[in-house]
Amino acid sequence: MNSKAIKNNTILLVDDEEGIRKVLKITLEASGHHVFLSPDGESGLNTFIQENPEIVITDIKMPGIDGIELLKRIKNLNPETEVIMITGHGDMDLAVKSLKYEAADFITKPIDIVDLESAIKKAQDRISITQNISRYMDDLENLVEEKDKKINESQQLVTIGQTIAGMSHAIKNIAGGLKGSTFVLEQGIDQENREYLKQGWEMMKGNIDKITKLSLDLLNYAKTTKLDFKLENPNTPAREIVQLMTHRAKEKNIVFKLTPCKRKKLVLIDCEAIHNCILNLVTNAFDSFDELLGSTRNKTVNLLVKIESNHIEYSVQDNGCGINDTLAISILNDFITTKGMNGTGFGLMTTKKIIQEHNGTINFITEMGKGSRFVIKIPLKTTRD
Ligand SMILES: Nc1ncnc2c1ncn2[C@@H]1O[C@H](COP(=O)(O)OP(=O)(O)OP(=O)(O)O)[C@@H](O)[C@H]1O
Ligand SMILES: [Mg+2]
Repeated sequence: MNSKAIKNNTILLVDDEEGIRKVLKITLEASGHHVFLSPDGESGLNTFIQENPEIVITDIKMPGIDGIELLKRIKNLNPETEVIMITGHGDMDLAVKSLKYEAADFITKPIDIVDLESAIKKAQDRISITQNISRYMDDLENLVEEKDKKINESQQLVTIGQTIAGMSHAIKNIAGGLKGSTFVLEQGIDQENREYLKQGWEMMKGNIDKITKLSLDLLNYAKTTKLDFKLENPNTPAREIVQLMTHRAKEKNIVFKLTPCKRKKLVLIDCEAIHNCILNLVTNAFDSFDELLGSTRNKTVNLLVKIESNHIEYSVQDNGCGINDTLAISILNDFITTKGMNGTGFGLMTTKKIIQEHNGTINFITEMGKGSRFVIKIPLKTTRD
């Protein structure tokens, strides 16, 4: 990440049309912004590294490094930067692609200054919210350092702070996706283009699913009510997941196999909660192949249920992309996602919480490029007392 502090109220405008650069610079400076100009992606990136502006406005179509590539590199250097994309008629596919890399907003050519100012204002509001959260986090961390005696309480506050920070990121992602869907829908309506309407509607539905999942995850995570422990067949939640995911496995060309436990024994678990945990692990395993575009490997995911002498074991093994060392340290404890708009980073945190409430453990082994195996172990209890 770029270590330099973001300069407030600065905008980098990257556009290969000199006319647009000139007019926008005059207009934006008149409304009090400090503006840097670049005629192409390459020099835009250099200016970005030197000046660290808070907002970048870039044309989507440019020779050399185009707007999407620029967006991608800027987000890599400093994810907090808000990038507004300028799109022309017929750039819809590019606009949709840029959503994946967390573009903040879209402005269509010919540029309407009122729209542009409103997009800038919204981007600035988002930046100040993020900065406030990070200041809040710093304060909490200081609190922890200062108050040795109250360390437990303070750490809880830090966890809450991290949860809020992660949540706001997840919500921001979904809001971005909804914004993108409305943009595609509006273009579909303006241009009477059925294809865009269909595309926008699909995106909208996807984002509604995401917000539904996020609110369920949040509820699960925040739930303080006791789990509903009952004597159950340990294979039941695993079989439910197979039913639920078999269709998706076929679509994604994944061989998804369950090896159920053969011992006929009822165990004390909260079946619904364990269902959610396995679902999270299996979904992650399915997603682990998305990074391997173009690979010809036979994709397999194995779900295994075992009863050992003193614990029940659920394991999910994939031969997908694996997890790098840096990521591996935090995925079970922090809101971390590498899936951009398609993930919230909630899955493993919620899973760990549920397993801990069963007095169990969750661990994993992984190798980059080869795959991962997540293992849940729950102490074996076969009576209610
Ligand atoms: N089986 C796996 N293979 C590769 N990477 C994984 C696997 N499981 C988890 N990860 C990595 O850990 C990250 C966090 O996983 P987690 O389930 O908490 O969140 P998510 O899948 O990104 O989003 P969500 O589950 O909330 O939709 C993922 O984004 C991914 O990078
Ligand atoms: Mg997940």
